[in-house]
Amino acid sequence: MKKIVTLALVTLVTTPIVLLADMDRCVSCHGVDFEKKALGVSRVVKDMNESEIKEALDGYKAGKGGPMKELMMAEVNLGVDTDAMSADIYHESRTKGFEEPSDEFIFQKRLNVRTLHNLKENIQNAEKKDMKKISTQIKATAFNMYAYDKALRTKVSFDEFKPKELTKKDILQTVTHVKKCVDHSFSVDEMVECEVEFFNLAGNLVKNEEKKIKAKSLKNKAPIFTGEGAVDIHQYLEKK
Ligand code: HEC
Repeated sequence: MKKIVTLALVTLVTTPIVLLADMDRCVSCHGVDFEKKALGVSRVVKDMNESEIKEALDGYKAGKGGPMKELMMAEVNLGVDTDAMSADIYHESRTKGFEEPSDEFIFQKRLNVRTLHNLKENIQNAEKKDMKKISTQIKATAFNMYAYDKALRTKVSFDEFKPKELTKKDILQTVTHVKKCVDHSFSVDEMVECEVEFFNLAGNLVKNEEKKIKAKSLKNKAPIFTGEGAVDIHQYLEKK
């Protein structure tokens, strides 16, 4: 039991987060609303739907594409989650003008998507005897969301938690839904709605943990990726 829990926490803390804050890199070739054929070669991304975009990105990730695929391979191989990226691109291509979400929002979104993705895989692979570990992982994830998201802290009401028995299917369904919800959120408010849903799930699995969660949230440090391409987000992190 200990092993998996530790693993999950390590994943939470060390997964490198590449901050692709600058969709403006794309603008130079694809146009402000992805309305151009990039370098006269690409399709007009604005005319593509989300799954076509994801397919193209997955292709680049796997080294496949058109004559100028190398260019795009460099973009996607920065370690992006193509689910989240295609949702971003689709949204951006349908929003007039260029509206860049804050670095802090992008950081939080990518962190959540990755974490929920790992959690989902763990749940899918879990057998009945593993469900206690899963519950611990869900709590750990909830701790993290709570620690890093100020907006969430104002929305969570511990009084409303009603611990109850949940099946693996219930849990998987909620986690899948929350991941999709986060993937498709483009503002702090939208994302907080998803996080609240996740928190309610965590609340169903725990009893009287308000103090623990709050105390832990004060100790937690965000995992910060500082390699090439990273954006300095220290300025956004609250001094605790
Ligand atoms: C230097 C120019 C350039 C930049 C910068 C660039 N792209 Fe591209 N993009 C291209 C080219 C050229 C293609 C077509 C590549 C090929 O031959 O497959 C392409 C293809 C694509 C496609 C698939 C379209 C198709 O034809 O199937 C998507 C989606 C895309 N880019 C998104 C992005 C995003 C998002 C960014 C920014 C993070 C970005 N691109 C940055 C030049 C660029």
